[in-house]
Amino acid sequence: MNLNPAELIYPVFVKEGITVKESIDSLPGQYRHCIDDVDVVADELIQAGLDKVLVFGIPQERDGQASCAKNPDGVVQDAIKIFKKKKLKVIADVCLCHYTDHGECRIIDEGGINEKLSLNALAEIAHSYARAGADYVAPSASLNGQVKAIHTTLDDHGFSETKIMSYSAKFASAFYGPYRDAVESPYGGGLRSYQLPPGDREGALERIEAEVGDGADAVIVKPALPYLDVILEAKSRVDVPVVAYQVSGEYSALKSLNSPHALIESLVSIKRAGADYIITYAAAEAFRGNG
Ligand code: PBG
Ligand code: ZN
Repeated sequence: MNLNPAELIYPVFVKEGITVKESIDSLPGQYRHCIDDVDVVADELIQAGLDKVLVFGIPQERDGQASCAKNPDGVVQDAIKIFKKKKLKVIADVCLCHYTDHGECRIIDEGGINEKLSLNALAEIAHSYARAGADYVAPSASLNGQVKAIHTTLDDHGFSETKIMSYSAKFASAFYGPYRDAVESPYGGGLRSYQLPPGDREGALERIEAEVGDGADAVIVKPALPYLDVILEAKSRVDVPVVAYQVSGEYSALKSLNSPHALIESLVSIKRAGADYIITYAAAEAFRGNG
């Protein structure tokens, strides 16, 4: 069994307000790119035979409502347009945590988490990314009803062609650590209580089935390597593509072995478990030189 570059999705961080890319200490070989470099990033990926990116934005302003996220000239919207010009398939991560001043994936008011406002905000952000040209929007807030809210909003605004790749099975994981550093998250808490406990396989499968029922066109299991059984089982329960996310902590731990073979072996094992696509920071290096 071999990996094919068309099965891999490369996550790209784009930061607003910088003019030179910044290296990410916790993710060796990965960068916070400036918008002017996105062209070059696209060319390098194409050179390696890749055709899919997952875009994350790092904004300059954060507030309680994640208001900046839907700015039509925001850094994610601009990056989507550039990648689309290069004919890449673009998936845009839809969450509030990059844009809220507390770093939570939800809007919080006097009463605590406000689910209705959070769902509205997610739907508006997804609509904005769809307008910018994203092929897929990828809600990652672990909020019940996120797929339904986005689906309805996209349909209402004439974007029924935009697909939804939902982070349906998202576990509360220590493996997200380096990512917090990558996106300069102000989040000060520990594991998020609204994400699935690592032992809850049945809960993960229920969320996957529920979100497919709500109209998800693809589902993500995250992290990947510690949850291969969930990937395997998801494949037998739903008909949509199952996507595995090899997250930041998996990548940096494997990277510390200093062997490209370790990364490739891990990706093959994720594919063997049944993943149709794999989101991985190693996407480009796995095929470097193979272009
Ligand atoms: C945003 C989001 C996270 C990741 C992807 N989207 C962080 C989190 O949920 O805490 C993690 C990605 C990684 O660790 O590589 N909700
Ligand atoms: Zn989030």
